[in-house]
Amino acid sequence: MSDQKASTQRRVLVLGTGGTIAGRAASSGDNIGYVAGQVGVAELLAGIEAPPGVALEAEQVAQVDSKDMEFSIWCALARRCMQVLADPAVSGIVITHGTDTLEETAFFLHSVLQAFKPVVLTCAMRPATALSPDGPQNVRDAISVAATPDARGVTVACAGVVHAGRDVQKVHTYRTDAFSSGDAGPVGFVEEGEVRLARPWPEGPQGAHHVRQWLSDLDPPRVEIVLSHAGARGALIDALIAERMQGAPGAVHGLVLAATGNGTLHHEIEQAAGRAQAAGIRVVRATRCAQGRILAKPGDSIADAGALSPVKARIALQLELLGSAGA
Ligand code: SIN
Repeated sequence: MSDQKASTQRRVLVLGTGGTIAGRAASSGDNIGYVAGQVGVAELLAGIEAPPGVALEAEQVAQVDSKDMEFSIWCALARRCMQVLADPAVSGIVITHGTDTLEETAFFLHSVLQAFKPVVLTCAMRPATALSPDGPQNVRDAISVAATPDARGVTVACAGVVHAGRDVQKVHTYRTDAFSSGDAGPVGFVEEGEVRLARPWPEGPQGAHHVRQWLSDLDPPRVEIVLSHAGARGALIDALIAERMQGAPGAVHGLVLAATGNGTLHHEIEQAAGRAQAAGIRVVRATRCAQGRILAKPGDSIADAGALSPVKARIALQLELLGSAGA
């Protein structure tokens, strides 16, 4: 390779974490009876031609079914991303991931990284062994996003659509186009290796550095999600309060209430939430609705998470609790 060619080549690092994209089934006709997280990321890349001028490198960070995602894997991923973001020789990062908790990992990375280069998560709804797997095209699209010169922020590339890590949500159990950006709309589209932007690249949060020192394998503060629904009772919340009052190891520090509509709660849940707050537990409301945000009202006694879904509000509260512990 000539020196000139080497200097114009864009390096993209592909980090593997498992998922259906790395899944194997006994038969090519089986799109659901597979085991996720079986094929290594280097093997996944072997069948994919890099876009012109792009050099690919692969690294396995984890190999899990993303339903089993853990904070320790997020920390390992975030630490590796930080090293690579600081390396001027690398243009962007792709992360292969299961679809089931992809929105949580994307939101976590969005919250802790200053991603002035692209960090692009991608996935598949069909295993690598499928008759017509969707993974290879998704990976190819994610690489195109990661190699786009002005791209930045944490995004997700799936089924030709680029979503912001903050907004993306899995909305379908089976279709290959399983993700939506909700009201925010997609960041753009990947068409034949070219990115067509629909809105500006997402900015990472400023001031997230207070959390980075906590990116270790320590257990994060425990934050639970409790759903408000017809006939709900406060017994689960009272059990969590009791653990906390007994000083049980790993007792809850925060509670996200998955609220109805514009952040409303069954009165039994609301009363129990008041008891939790009195016991020193941080309580936040996040809407159960797939779209929209909670509009705050004067006199609200429990903070709301705006447009964040309950799973994302849980991560935001964990990071906030980590931040205040480190302040
Ligand atoms: C997973 O989330 O790891 C399994 C399901 C999928 O990737 O679609």
